[in-house]
Amino acid sequence: MTTEEVENRQETKKVLKRFGKKRGNLIPILQKVQSRLGYLPVEAMEEVAGFLGISEVDVYEVVTFYNQFRLNPPGKHSIRVCLGTACHMKGGYITMDAWKRRLGIDVRQTTPDREFDLDSVACVGCCVMAPVTVVDDKPEGNVEPTKVDGILLSFELEREKEAKKNR
Ligand code: FES
Repeated sequence: MTTEEVENRQETKKVLKRFGKKRGNLIPILQKVQSRLGYLPVEAMEEVAGFLGISEVDVYEVVTFYNQFRLNPPGKHSIRVCLGTACHMKGGYITMDAWKRRLGIDVRQTTPDREFDLDSVACVGCCVMAPVTVVDDKPEGNVEPTKVDGILLSFELEREKEAKKNR
């Protein structure tokens, strides 16, 4: 077991102490664990299942049913591709495909280096700039595949600058 897995189990146990062993507590427990860990790793789901005396599959089904729950750790940067009507009409799905390809991950996943996580979002209220991608809470307009490359390049340059500073 990795150190992170051990810590995740410990944190989950701390949350469980505050709840009764009732199945009805499953969702509030999962919400609390996620707010502590930022996501719901397998080991946390195992702890919750053991505590409530239900199967791990039952917990997993609930986690995958509700959009609020994350199975992957949050990335350092969040990428949210708008797939609302206006963005969809202007090629939001092409933008999404570009992000998936460039990052090498699917929707609701995180890159292995935990730099980026990717998800879709409904209209964020700036349809005139469609197709929109919200990058770290900032809406970026006209995000075509070439702009995806540009955004990633700016992150890359930022990382290099940071690395130089820390040398
Ligand atoms: S549909 Fe994308 S911002 Fe409105």
